Amino acid sequence: SILVLDYGSQYNQLITRRIRELGVYSELKPNTLTAQEIKALNPSGLILSGGPNSVYADGAPSIDPAIFELNIPILGVCYGMQLMANVLEGGVVEPANNSAEYGQTEMKLVKSDSALFAGTPLEQTVLMSHGDYVAEVPNGFNVVGTSDGTPVAAMEDAQRGFYGIQFHAEVQHTEFGKEILTNFVDKIVHAKRDWSMDDFIDEQIAEIRAKVGNKRVLLGLSGGVDSSVVGVLLQRAIGDQLTSIFVDHGLLRKNEADEVMAALGGKFGLNIIKVDAQERFLSKLAGVSDPEQKRKIIGNEFIQVFDEEASKLNGIDFLAQGTLYTDVIESGTDTAQTIKSHHNVGGLPEDMQFQLIEPLNTLFKDEVRLLGEKLGMPHELVWRQPFPGPGLGIRVLGDITEAKLAIVRDSDAILREEIAKHGLDGEVWQYFTVLTGVRSVGVMGDGRTYDYTLAIRAITSVDGMTADFAKLPWDILEEISRRIVNEVDKINRVVYDITAKPPATIEWE
Ligand code: XMP
Repeated sequence: SILVLDYGSQYNQLITRRIRELGVYSELKPNTLTAQEIKALNPSGLILSGGPNSVYADGAPSIDPAIFELNIPILGVCYGMQLMANVLEGGVVEPANNSAEYGQTEMKLVKSDSALFAGTPLEQTVLMSHGDYVAEVPNGFNVVGTSDGTPVAAMEDAQRGFYGIQFHAEVQHTEFGKEILTNFVDKIVHAKRDWSMDDFIDEQIAEIRAKVGNKRVLLGLSGGVDSSVVGVLLQRAIGDQLTSIFVDHGLLRKNEADEVMAALGGKFGLNIIKVDAQERFLSKLAGVSDPEQKRKIIGNEFIQVFDEEASKLNGIDFLAQGTLYTDVIESGTDTAQTIKSHHNVGGLPEDMQFQLIEPLNTLFKDEVRLLGEKLGMPHELVWRQPFPGPGLGIRVLGDITEAKLAIVRDSDAILREEIAKHGLDGEVWQYFTVLTGVRSVGVMGDGRTYDYTLAIRAITSVDGMTADFAKLPWDILEEISRRIVNEVDKINRVVYDITAKPPATIEWE
């Protein structure tokens, strides 16, 4: 394995992910590990990550110097390289002052035979983001690359297997980042590339079994990709010791509850307690039209229902959650303004005494999908589009009634059917219908109508943080519009949302 010591950069988990993609197991570890502890883990290589600190700052994270005596190849990235320069004899780190670099930068190789840069050109674009730089390399090191703002953009002591890069090789903006990491793995660490997602499954199963023993685990199942994958993984690990609760709040898509039950309960044999709470939610929501108020009611009610069900069960020690790595980062930097109070099926009362199991918290969404496929889950389940916790409740603008929900459910089903029929479900990130509160005049047959306007929202995105509206072909939109007006009661007009995020958001509420 290749261990990545965590010095706090936002990109850290991306490093482990790039290494795993190369078929070598990689994991992020605290920077406080001692040389002894690392030796016990027996990695074949180490990467010291980037981080926001200055090596000279008070309390800046450091490294056990004995780690450099372990005879393990080490790559320092950004802060990691500065740390090497700071700890190893002869190195000097200085504030870059006017020459701090942020963004894509040209780097020149001044040493052309470095194994780390094998097969890459003498001039290349790299992503820099640093306020300090290495002014003097430590004894035994050579300068490998420079840039306008940095005398040492890359350095090496090939003898000892120590390498440093001032830039981030793990991001797309570094032109040859992938080659550089591959060289580290193949030419420097000489790691065996034999790790795959199947190994991840085996390791997780072993870990879950060791942690849980013969105790019981509870899972909140939403029907979404993440909690479903956790369910199937846990089922494999501990079988009947897992109990899942699936709350049908009546705000799900057409046939969704049945499909979830059939797939997870049926094929995968999960023991699912399905709670039919539709009426409870609807009566709490009656007459409420403020979006934040609706979200809060749905979130709170969800927690109450879950809590009530969970308290009927005895002897549960663990709660499993489908937390992803991206959720971990986002909640770690929680200073942003609340645009919408997102609610996830995991939101639980503080007084619940559970230990958490979060087997996906080192993975990215697409890795979770791959994991789901490896676990034999059906394509439709694994490649579902994102669906918000408050469900259709935020797609009926204004107050919610069963009749309005039916309109959204039916029109959404038509939209999904057409998108799938035309093979667009792989390209469009998310697509749904919204019942606006607007009514307008139309003519159907020979009669005047005065009915609702339905909006179609279809977007492309990488992570949901920003989005563009999908440029769907007119003829497909035309067919969707025709079908909706003909097949769904109370709709006489269909509009297409052509706003990006920002300034709009993806959901309308
Ligand atoms: P917005 O509307 O904020 O949505 O641009 C971004 C993405 O998040 C989804 N979304 C939610 N997901 N709980 C969730 O689990 C929520 O409360 C929630 N609100 C929005 C939305 O569908 C889109 O994919």
